[in-house]
Amino acid sequence: MTENDRTTDPAALEDALAGDASGRPRISVIGTGYLGATHAAAMAEMGFDVIGVDADPAKVAALAEGRVPFFEPGLPELIVEHVSSGRLAFTTDLAGAVALSDVHFVCVGTPQRRGSHAADLSYVEEATRAVAAAMSHDGLVVGKSTVPVGTAARLREIVAAEVRPGVRADLVWNPEFLREGHAVEDTLRPDRIVLGGTDASSEALLREVYAQPIATGTPVISCDLPTAELVKVSANAFLATKISFINAISELCEVAGADVTTLADALGHDDRIGRKFLNAGLGFGGGCLPKDIRALVHRANELGAHRAVGLMHQVDEINMAQRQRVIDLAIEACGGSVLNRRVAVLGAAFKPHTDDVRDSPALNVAAALHLRGAQVLVVDPEATATAQRSFPTLAFADTVAEAVTDADVVLLLTEWPEFVTADAAGLAEVAANPVVVDARNALDAAVWSAAGWEVRPLGAPATARARRTLAPAALPA
Ligand code: UGA
Repeated sequence: MTENDRTTDPAALEDALAGDASGRPRISVIGTGYLGATHAAAMAEMGFDVIGVDADPAKVAALAEGRVPFFEPGLPELIVEHVSSGRLAFTTDLAGAVALSDVHFVCVGTPQRRGSHAADLSYVEEATRAVAAAMSHDGLVVGKSTVPVGTAARLREIVAAEVRPGVRADLVWNPEFLREGHAVEDTLRPDRIVLGGTDASSEALLREVYAQPIATGTPVISCDLPTAELVKVSANAFLATKISFINAISELCEVAGADVTTLADALGHDDRIGRKFLNAGLGFGGGCLPKDIRALVHRANELGAHRAVGLMHQVDEINMAQRQRVIDLAIEACGGSVLNRRVAVLGAAFKPHTDDVRDSPALNVAAALHLRGAQVLVVDPEATATAQRSFPTLAFADTVAEAVTDADVVLLLTEWPEFVTADAAGLAEVAANPVVVDARNALDAAVWSAAGWEVRPLGAPATARARRTLAPAALPA
């Protein structure tokens, strides 16, 4: 049998699932993006038979061979292990997978709607409808996607309307808090498990599904549907607020001559505040925080909760202003114009350990300087291909040294470890002008300064160093 047969034929799918999970609920996972692929693999790791479903045959075929179409540390290995052990299979056949399973996790995307900040709920509605219609025996639909508050109650009505007579089906909400780059760890060992809208029987079923993390102390919070939906969005909104808070303070540090990193360290020792997500710099991006706070603003506006709207709007404003601040610093470092100046951009991904460039602050800055006439050369250890697809007009280097050679200014925009530990002395020798804008406050300023660099952090004084007089801007070859 080929992998392709397994992904389309229900009987073959059942054969493919030759796992040792008999007696346990069987699990289907609808949608195999970051969330779904990781959740499916983690459920198999926890000892369940799992079928991952996706409408995209190429993605399904790749996953069935353990090829993950995005960079996520540890995930390909986990998928290969459990496809081989027979606990994990992938298919395009939603009805077949649902018929074989008891718990159905809906993990499809809720992207920003075109021309609006509202979430596009068409995928989650369609997936829920299709699961309910395909259920041949009693089961539980579990929503994991990030949705605006009020969605789950509507989906529950869809389930009730679609399910066949005689089949008992309920829908509950169980939001996901995984971070890209740590997705496997976050799913296997979550901080908390939120169960929204459960009754005694669905609660018992989900406690069986999550028995492993619960046994190791992960707290379970049972609540109603709207609370569960809002926990997820509020968690991301709070993280975004923390980042914008420290970035607002970093502006104050800069004008007052204070150091925001030392300040954040001191704040962080107060465990009511905590040190995490207090790194000042270029701000947040990615497929979640920006989209989720805008969807929250949209939904809060609809519901007339205006204080949340005002707060989140400010958070977004402060965040976007950080990108402009870095653009301004790059222009300043080049003597007032970047036209024909060589700019080395270290980082394209929205954060380290991912190849995701959705709403990447780094690419936003790189593209803005490119549009101002700079000769921008971007380097990233994992995100070159995804960045090239998003910004085909940008140029990319293979190594940090290649990007920095002849650069008039270097911008550290994503704090990949290989950038932070790069050979500062060697790079100083090849740069045209050794000035680095440390937009993630990640470099050891003393080391870089001793190696001959002027280091310009955000929210802290620049290291003093006589700058070389800039040569006239090089004309493009
Ligand atoms: C975020 C949340 O952290 C997850 O809990 C959530 O499950 C996920 O969204 C989601 O909704 O699916 P993620 O988008 O992977 O996860 O990224 P984060 O690690 O939260 O980082 C977001 C952005 O904030 C990055 O651009 C990062 O560079 C930036 N950041 C982070 C800062 O600028 N400063 C910090 O101190 C921390």
